[in-house]
Amino acid sequence: MRLEGKVAIITGAAGGIGFAAAETFAREGATVALADFRAEAGESKAQWLRNKGYNVNFYQVNVADRESINSMAKAIENDYGTIDILVNNAGITKDSMLTKLSQEDFEAVINVNLTGVFQCTQAVLPVMLAKGRGKIINTSSVSGVNGNIGQTNYAAAKAGVIGMTKTWAKELGRKGINVNAVAPGFIETGMTAAVPDKVIDQMKAMVPIGKLGKPEDIANAYLFLASAESDYVNGIVLHVDGGIMM
Ligand code: CAA
Ligand code: NAI
Repeated sequence: MRLEGKVAIITGAAGGIGFAAAETFAREGATVALADFRAEAGESKAQWLRNKGYNVNFYQVNVADRESINSMAKAIENDYGTIDILVNNAGITKDSMLTKLSQEDFEAVINVNLTGVFQCTQAVLPVMLAKGRGKIINTSSVSGVNGNIGQTNYAAAKAGVIGMTKTWAKELGRKGINVNAVAPGFIETGMTAAVPDKVIDQMKAMVPIGKLGKPEDIANAYLFLASAESDYVNGIVLHVDGGIMM
């Protein structure tokens, strides 16, 4: 029970990686707030976990909207009295070659994947600062570290997440709050299901382990960074990508 007694918020928890993380955290004893834009999927996944005896709840949120985030944070604080862990996992893609990328699609991805991380973190920070303890885990990507064809908007946001992670690790470390990032490689979820087969084959060829990752591979990295085992780990980007970034 590595998260016994902890209250964790996981954004994007109705999706592939976020849901795996919610189940992993709940299994390790955490009370989990599954937060997502998609209410129906989120509610039914939370119910599925409750049926297994876990202490979880669903909260609808749009991480691109500050008011929506503030109400979510307030509701979770009211329900559980505290917030110990925030996993900024919600994300979207709107892939396009630079020549065709619209302003709208550029901004939409920045708003969710970059501004969303900033806004969610600011919303939970007062609780963590008052406690003098907290764990913030941000989701970057191999695309944010290395760039990726068709992902100007996404790579910019995910690189920005690394910049914010390192800045916050420096600002908040002495206040008892650890801030780290995970940079997944290509993981089997709805997000990669939308990628053309030809590109998936190219991705697999890039991975020394020779296959795509599973949502649980990332959930386990989140677990490490959320648990006391990582108390002296701060400001890192943990690459969970089968070796792409060597
Ligand atoms: N490597 C090499 N060449 C590529 C390529 C790649 N990954 N992707 C596209 N190209 C080439 C194409 O072969 C094509 O070449 P030609 O002009 O010589 O034929 C050219 O670039 C244009 O490609 P498309 O014909 O596919 O152009 P399009 O406008 O129809 O589509 C696209 C562009 C939307 C970017 C599409 O190629 C695509 O969806 N690519 C996948 C993008 C991707 O990797 N997304 C990752 C999603 S998963 C994720 O984001 C999770 C994470 O964090 C990693
Ligand atoms: P997914 O598409 O399965 O899940 C993403 C979830 O985020 C969805 O449930 C969606 O409803 C939610 N979401 C989207 N916009 C939102 C918003 N405005 N407010 C609240 N929730 C919102 O994708 P996946 O793969 O589980 O992605 C999780 C994270 O991992 C994302 O940040 C993604 O960028 C990142 N990632 C994924 C990789 C992959 O290969 N699947 C690789 C690297 C990073």
